[in-house]
Amino acid sequence: MKLISTLFAGLLSASLMASAFAGDVKAGATVSQGCVMCHGQNGITTLPGIPSLAGQSEIYLSSQIKQFRDGKRHNETMNVIAKPMSDADIDNVAAWFAQFEITLKNP
Ligand code: HEC
Repeated sequence: MKLISTLFAGLLSASLMASAFAGDVKAGATVSQGCVMCHGQNGITTLPGIPSLAGQSEIYLSSQIKQFRDGKRHNETMNVIAKPMSDADIDNVAAWFAQFEITLKNP
């Protein structure tokens, strides 16, 4: 029984964490203007060596940008870009790029 309630508490806090990440999509659209020349309009890039952001999860995007900002993930370009960003800027821009739906075609 203790195990079950521990698991349940874990799930509950995971879902609370997920909602804590809910950034403001509209504000994120404004922040994204500084990203599109590399990551592409709507987050689909055409440049080799640059990842697309559209449709990636908000939690992943937010955590990667924070890692760039805090120097835990190393990339000269992204370290400079993320440096001045606030937590809110990051959560908002992550929410913006996460809202795009990607459709896959089988090869
Ligand atoms: C000058 C070009 C450039 C601009 C502008 C730029 N990025 Fe990047 N971004 C990169 C490159 C290059 C990488 C790949 C880094 C690596 O290899 O680790 C990257 C990686 C990322 C990643 C990691 C993606 C993944 O799948 O792991 C995120 C998230 C990201 N950028 C977000 C942003 C956001 C948000 C902005 C705007 C605020 C932005 N970037 C602006 C060049 C850019």
